[in-house]
Amino acid sequence: MPNTNIPVITIDGPTASGKGTVAHKVADRLGFHLLDSGALYRLTALSALRRGTDLRDEHALAKVAEHLTIRFHGGHVYLGTEEVSNAIREEEVGNTASKIAALPGVRQALYGLQLSFRQTPGLVADGRDMGTVIFPGAQLKVFLTASVEARAQRRYKQLIDKGFSANMDDLLADLQSRDARDTQRAVAPLMPAEGAHILDTSQMTADEAVEQVLAWYAHP
Ligand code: DC
Repeated sequence: MPNTNIPVITIDGPTASGKGTVAHKVADRLGFHLLDSGALYRLTALSALRRGTDLRDEHALAKVAEHLTIRFHGGHVYLGTEEVSNAIREEEVGNTASKIAALPGVRQALYGLQLSFRQTPGLVADGRDMGTVIFPGAQLKVFLTASVEARAQRRYKQLIDKGFSANMDDLLADLQSRDARDTQRAVAPLMPAEGAHILDTSQMTADEAVEQVLAWYAHP
């Protein structure tokens, strides 16, 4: 049984809201473990794409999710023995992840795996449904958001910095359709959890957001 006394901070929010960076830094500062739940959906998507799994076959996709052999180590992600940290960040994988994440069978298959990340001394969990579904009893729940323009700017900069080409109009359209899919799906849609602190980071640096989350955690 997962130990519900182990502290959890959930950080949910839309694509490119900066929650990954903030979650990472908060976990570092507190010496907590980190669950990047989006990576689990991305790993499922990557594995399905590589196997040629029919992306409409919920049962087959749930099996892929259930049998993932994954490992997180030193900021790197492995699928089997292969390092896939960059591969899972590709746009096609992200879009496929968003589509298969709408399937209840896939979400169910990843449920137990996510709970298993709750280990001493604590966990920072980032995703879409960390506070609403996976860790509803979390000590602190944060809903991190930013305007779609601010998020597209950040994604643009990330891609250019990594040496990829990027187009602002395409990025905006892509974020809007991913937001729509993540917020309108029937199961575990993206929304603030009950009792969540809402943090709009449109005008904030990641470090300012980190300080705010740590302050909420220190003074509930
Ligand atoms: O956070 P991300 O962009 O890496 O997530 C990729 C996709 O996975 C996202 O479009 C929606 C889905 N996802 C989800 O449905 N539930 C989560 N807890 C995390 C991600």
